[in-house]
Amino acid sequence: MTEQSPQTIYLKDYQAPAYAVESLDLHFDLHDSETVVTATQRLKQLRPEALVLNGEALQLLSIKIDGEPLAEDDYQVDDELLTIARLPASCTLEIQTRIDPAANTTLDGLYLSSGNFCTQCEAEGFRRMTYYQDRPDVMTLFTTTLVADKARYPVLLSNGNRVDGGELDNGRHWARWEDPHKKPCYLFALVAGDLQCVEDRFTTLSGRDVTLRIYVEAHNVDKCEHAMASLKRAMSWDETVYGREYDLDIYMIVAVDDFNMGAMENKGLNVFNSKFILARPDTATDTDYAQIEGVVAHEYFHNWSGNRVTCRDWFQLSLKEGFTVFRDQSFSADMFSHAAKRIEDVNMLRSAQFIEDSGPMSHPVRPDAYVEINNFYTLTVYEKGAEVVRMIHTLVGADGFRRGSDLYFQRHDGQAVTCDDFVKAMEDANSIDLTQFKRWYSQSGTPQVAISTAYDAATQRYHVTFEQSCPPTPGQPVKAPFHIPVAMGLLDGQGRAVPLTLSGETETGPLHRVLDLTEASQSFTFIDVAAQPTPSFFRHFSAPVKIDYDYSDAALAFLMAHDDDEFNRWDAGQRLAIRLLGQQLTGSDEAAATLQHFSDAFGQLLANNSELDHNLVAEALRLPKESYLSEFFSPADPVAIHQARRQLMKTLAQRHQSALQTLYEALVQADYRIDAAAIGKRALRNVCLAYLVTLESQTVIDCAYQQFEQASNMTDVMAALASLVSVDCPERHQALAAFYEQWKGETLVVDKWLALQATSPLPGTLAHVKQLQNHEAFSIKNPNKVRSLIGAFCSANPAQFHQPDGEGYRFLADSVLRLNELNPQIAARLLAPLIQWRRFDSSRQAQMKAQLERILAAEHLSKNVYEIAAKGLAA
Ligand code: TRP
Ligand code: ZN
Repeated sequence: MTEQSPQTIYLKDYQAPAYAVESLDLHFDLHDSETVVTATQRLKQLRPEALVLNGEALQLLSIKIDGEPLAEDDYQVDDELLTIARLPASCTLEIQTRIDPAANTTLDGLYLSSGNFCTQCEAEGFRRMTYYQDRPDVMTLFTTTLVADKARYPVLLSNGNRVDGGELDNGRHWARWEDPHKKPCYLFALVAGDLQCVEDRFTTLSGRDVTLRIYVEAHNVDKCEHAMASLKRAMSWDETVYGREYDLDIYMIVAVDDFNMGAMENKGLNVFNSKFILARPDTATDTDYAQIEGVVAHEYFHNWSGNRVTCRDWFQLSLKEGFTVFRDQSFSADMFSHAAKRIEDVNMLRSAQFIEDSGPMSHPVRPDAYVEINNFYTLTVYEKGAEVVRMIHTLVGADGFRRGSDLYFQRHDGQAVTCDDFVKAMEDANSIDLTQFKRWYSQSGTPQVAISTAYDAATQRYHVTFEQSCPPTPGQPVKAPFHIPVAMGLLDGQGRAVPLTLSGETETGPLHRVLDLTEASQSFTFIDVAAQPTPSFFRHFSAPVKIDYDYSDAALAFLMAHDDDEFNRWDAGQRLAIRLLGQQLTGSDEAAATLQHFSDAFGQLLANNSELDHNLVAEALRLPKESYLSEFFSPADPVAIHQARRQLMKTLAQRHQSALQTLYEALVQADYRIDAAAIGKRALRNVCLAYLVTLESQTVIDCAYQQFEQASNMTDVMAALASLVSVDCPERHQALAAFYEQWKGETLVVDKWLALQATSPLPGTLAHVKQLQNHEAFSIKNPNKVRSLIGAFCSANPAQFHQPDGEGYRFLADSVLRLNELNPQIAARLLAPLIQWRRFDSSRQAQMKAQLERILAAEHLSKNVYEIAAKGLAA
């Protein structure tokens, strides 16, 4: 907590550490409210400078150098730093501190979750346990001894291998763990608690026999099967696709209920938000199953992309996160469906990252300044970072990418490196120049590509001109052109691919190709094009850009039916829907014709569903999300957008009622399976239900209620409940009450119940959300509860959050201030929607700004909240 404006940290000021740590021995005497930490490090001076150690919320008990207590005037200590001016060139430094895990509500450092000790050290939590050079480029060998009450904390875990342990007096016991791999302190972890474990094994390609353990509370032992199976699939996939094996004899995962993020890749000891481990068919939806698989894989993949090769400094965060997200996306695509996974990822990018990138927190994939690093675990660093890695993959091809990643891992194993080092390995392994490409790391904002085309029948030539631009973003008024890979194809009148031969080429070109767009304006001429083609640009979303091309309704409908790129087939439908909603919102007289095109295509999808992947049909039938739609209207009116979208759903339901009903009935499944086909059937069937329920007829409500009562799995239960909750009917209350009664003992299921009510489109939702804050099911100290209730209302219910009375904004500000000291990371994340005020009308702008100003004027503002609020108001 700070009183004056906190300091900004700059990439340009980076300096290598002045001291190397040759080894670190940690001793934790664990007690709920007063844990004593003894940290003994072997130091070697690299530059004749003072030793500056980070430390926060610590009580310093003693400092010894080579066994001798340090005199008080030989060091300086304040709220953030411990400075020792003079040290021998080589010495042993022993520091003892006292901390209070029970009082630690920040969930950063050492804390208690459901009565068990656990740690979170990334990014800068290690300094909340002891004074240390808390930076990722200080890597060392860790030995950790844990001492705790044996009855309450029978399980004692840390990184690496357990090497010793035993009993002590007073019912206490101890264990010592040794990690044979050097690591930065952000990868340190310890867990002490009353946990059960599920165990399995995996044999690596080279024959190492690895013990796999998932630790959970006793009542959750029956919900670990899917996470364990996912882990084994991920281990095997990383061997096949990247040639990467696991490097210890044991891999442990611990699931905890109180966690700020999704999960953490601590070496050999991942700590997970229980949401991303626990699943049983009756408690978890298909989406949950997919997310668990993805997050388990993500953390496992970090063992190479993050741990064996780590980041030099936190500006390089995307080095590990962008690459690892790309790896987990590729894995999930291989396990499920390439097109459906791509659609999901692009939806997230366009509906959330694009908004971040056009607002006051817009920053490059490799930021160059921050106040609070925890504020930069963003969609830009993660998702756009993954897109940047994906573009390299597109440019060099799968084999070239593998050569590059092999070189990267080999060259930098055991090092803390930069995004430039990653790109250099890709360049060296492929003999290409990515100098211009690297602007994707340094320039913020979403580029726009305007495309114009002209067909010349006389010469059979097709001209395509691309013009790229990128709007100004904070600190970056002018941008240089990006290197943009444009994957494309051309379709003839029958929907067949036209060979793409560029003028000057002597051989007939391929049916699909990737153009290098590097200039601000650049033209390409295709030859031997027999008739006016329909172009398909940015296939598989080959670059994270906004595309501006004036398709006719007919061309979009044609692409929806014929593009052999499944992603673009889906995207054509989204474009048509966005156009239609825009026309309807402005009362354009073209709306009727566009509706006809869209409705026909919608009917075709319903009619042809059996020939297509049901997952893709479900995606194609879904209208774009409200948050994505708001991008296209300025100022955005979330209430009007919600109504128009709901009205369009109803119109489509009226026009296709019998087809939707027939399909809904036909897709019923006798047994429950969790494979892509079964998931696709459930998804499509539940999309049908979501349309039908907009008719608000008693028949459909009864049908939804029946599904709610009879379904054997949480996917179908939640879909039915969501349908009921969207309508003002008695069944809505009945179902919500029955659901809570059945599931009040399962905290993760209760989170779904909270989120569903928080995202209700009905009036009075805010009042209800406020009431739910007093319900036994809610706790302000649990991030999952905060996200499910407050977070869901403020960022997943735009129509209610943006009600013109401004009460949503006041509620958000109240919540941020309530959380500011309790859990600054969560408080700052909650704040995000408020800084987007520039997108709305002047009345909303004024009310949103007033709440930001109120927050900024509050006392004891955390760095986290301060940075977002201050940037949110900056001119
Ligand atoms: N490295 C983690 C991941 O992406 C992210 C993470 C987990 C994190 N817990 C955190 C980041 C707490 C900041 C604070 O896999
Ligand atoms: Zn990660």
